[in-house]
Amino acid sequence: MASKLASSNNYSLLLQNPHHNHRGAAGTNNHLRPSAASSPKIKPLSLRCATTAAASPIPAHVGEERIFNFAAGPATLPANVLKKAESELYNWRGSGMSVMEMSHRGKEFLSIIQKAESDLRSLLNIPEDYSVLFLQGGATTQFAAIPLNLCSPDDSVDFVVTGSWGDKAYKESQKYCKPKLIWSGKSDKYTSIPSFDTLEQSSGAKYLHICANETIHGVEFKDYPNPKNGILVADMSSNFCSKPVDVSKFGIIYAGAQKNVGPSGVTIVIIRKDLIGNAQGITPVMLDYKIHAENNSLYNTPPCYGIYMCGLVFEDLVAQGGLEEVEKKNKKKGELLYNAIEESNGFYRNPVEKSVRSLMNVPFTMEKSELEAEFIKEAVKEKMVQLKGHRSVGGMRASIYNAMPYEGVEKLVAFMKEFQAKHA
Ligand SMILES: Cc1ncc(COP(=O)(O)O)c(C=O)c1O
Repeated sequence: MASKLASSNNYSLLLQNPHHNHRGAAGTNNHLRPSAASSPKIKPLSLRCATTAAASPIPAHVGEERIFNFAAGPATLPANVLKKAESELYNWRGSGMSVMEMSHRGKEFLSIIQKAESDLRSLLNIPEDYSVLFLQGGATTQFAAIPLNLCSPDDSVDFVVTGSWGDKAYKESQKYCKPKLIWSGKSDKYTSIPSFDTLEQSSGAKYLHICANETIHGVEFKDYPNPKNGILVADMSSNFCSKPVDVSKFGIIYAGAQKNVGPSGVTIVIIRKDLIGNAQGITPVMLDYKIHAENNSLYNTPPCYGIYMCGLVFEDLVAQGGLEEVEKKNKKKGELLYNAIEESNGFYRNPVEKSVRSLMNVPFTMEKSELEAEFIKEAVKEKMVQLKGHRSVGGMRASIYNAMPYEGVEKLVAFMKEFQAKHA
């Protein structure tokens, strides 16, 4: 059978065996690659060109070797999760369908979303009186949905802003309630977190909003405040499921999936049930938590494949021993990288106050800033990508989410030391 297939041409391979590896096809038959398909040597109307262009748009190198991807999001996913998804892509567990093709109301997908929720509940120990919603629109949509669901237009709310994301949430909420900035780290370029006891909250504030981990500035809350008025609301987009959290301290936790728990397109909201059902009249149906809670996140077509991927990640985190174990690994990675920065005698610098340095996003600059572009370029040659800092702060940023292996950070640190030795 194998030799018979081997003697076939590549598109017949693809037609007969949809699992056929594109690598083999494109690698051994370069004339089949899309760029070559437009070559004047090949007749434009031949079946070979048309079939191949449609069947093999994936570059030959895909799957051959993984790189270390330090992107802030969408970010690296666990290799075993991707492999599992690959093995189930075409025919999910004998259903004869891909998850992408399933009805969101069918028993197969219902089992997927229910398992995802139950694994997330066990990971975070989410109390019964909280709903878990799988939504769309990114964390940015929640910047509006939260005030729309929790406030009347004249209600006051408080914001502690420790970075750009908190600032965006604050600005968006101005359209739907009366937010007050009770602390901002902007004048210090967002490098610290205040002691909450020293802050004055608005009387009657409906909630206090924080961003648990500022992805751009690398500032992370290590303890959470207890608001005197109202509930605590946290954007956990970039440290969601990176460590255990006492969910009962929060009214709402929300997170875009694409950093730590899945692909973009899924937004997770964990909300105390008694907060649901008071949305302003103008609230669009898609932003109304009541609608989504009553319909178990299936009011309309949800991002099914993304939810499935999140489910695989949750399963993997459970298998790793839960979030206590995950946190230990994250601490070890963070320590390795921050120590390398500290021990560089100022060659590399991280501006954030030590006690609130993020274990997820590590921004750093160089004393000789003119070397930064070269650092990023050389790192790519070593198969370490996406190390450029956010355009608003410059320098470098290494995002080392759950799925970044320890070996990735080791490799980065070795590279940093080598680069320093070369340029010191
Ligand atoms: C902390 C934080 N909040 C909100 C967002 C916005 O998320 P989204 O692009 O999913 O709307 C991001 C995106 O990077 C983020 O890091």
